[in-house]
Amino acid sequence: MRVLETTTDVSEFFGCSLVPTMGALHAGHRSLIERARQERTGPVVVTLFVNPTQFGPGEDFSKYPRTMDEDVALAEAAGADAIFIPNSATMYPAGLEAAGQAAAKWPLPPTASEPHLEDRVRPGHFGGVCQVVSRLFDLCRPAAAYFGEKDFQQVRVISQMVEQSTGPWRNLRVVACPTQRDVDGLAISSRNRYLTAQHRVCALGIFRALTMASHAKDAQHAESLMHSTLVQSGVSIDYAVVRDAFTLCPTAGTATPRRALIAVRLPTARLIDNMAMPTLDRTTLANA
Ligand code: PAF
Repeated sequence: MRVLETTTDVSEFFGCSLVPTMGALHAGHRSLIERARQERTGPVVVTLFVNPTQFGPGEDFSKYPRTMDEDVALAEAAGADAIFIPNSATMYPAGLEAAGQAAAKWPLPPTASEPHLEDRVRPGHFGGVCQVVSRLFDLCRPAAAYFGEKDFQQVRVISQMVEQSTGPWRNLRVVACPTQRDVDGLAISSRNRYLTAQHRVCALGIFRALTMASHAKDAQHAESLMHSTLVQSGVSIDYAVVRDAFTLCPTAGTATPRRALIAVRLPTARLIDNMAMPTLDRTTLANA
């Protein structure tokens, strides 16, 4: 596996299958690399850059886990052809201050500002995500890019950004890959390592709440089940909602794809997760 650092290095891999990451790689990232490898669109390039512009003041940028040697080993074992590890001057040649200012003004697709989910709790976050992903797309010119559905709003935002683009990456395929879970159901995340054993038990309430929501008769019932389950688990709720799976805005319908989405806080970590809700057509409803 090649380790790439410069824009010239990475230009040898134009047309690649890209797996953008901030490092601290885990089984979720491994599944993205393996999926990219199976689809054989092009050589698989993992990127590793902890992007400062997507972290808000008081968030975990400085303590975000940095485990480069392990990341390189995992990417290679999972079948990546190259790992691109740019420094911040390569990513943001005009400097970090200018990059922060540009991120704050980044033109955003509707899914990055209308749902009032991560966009409300983490203002500025999607400006930074769109900025860094755009820069990676410009530098690597991938044919396909792979993202995990655990960050469901992020995948929708990036998909919509690509759909709306008229530039060189308008034919890029954005592939949303299923969330990987530990055996007890907890969605695998780089931030799980911040949890104490006791808080991990509380965090299991998230999967319980989503599973209950997926069996509820309607969105209102699902939201009330999620709230009561999360309160019992002892986590503090940012949101626990059912939304249209494309716009991520509230929906009264049951016949279009919907998603249950949760964000909670524990003393040492903020966790997000989501699950597809069954689509109920007229026949199902008539027989219910
Ligand atoms: O999901 C992540 O790890 C990051 O938000 C991403 C997409 C790599 C951009 O920094």
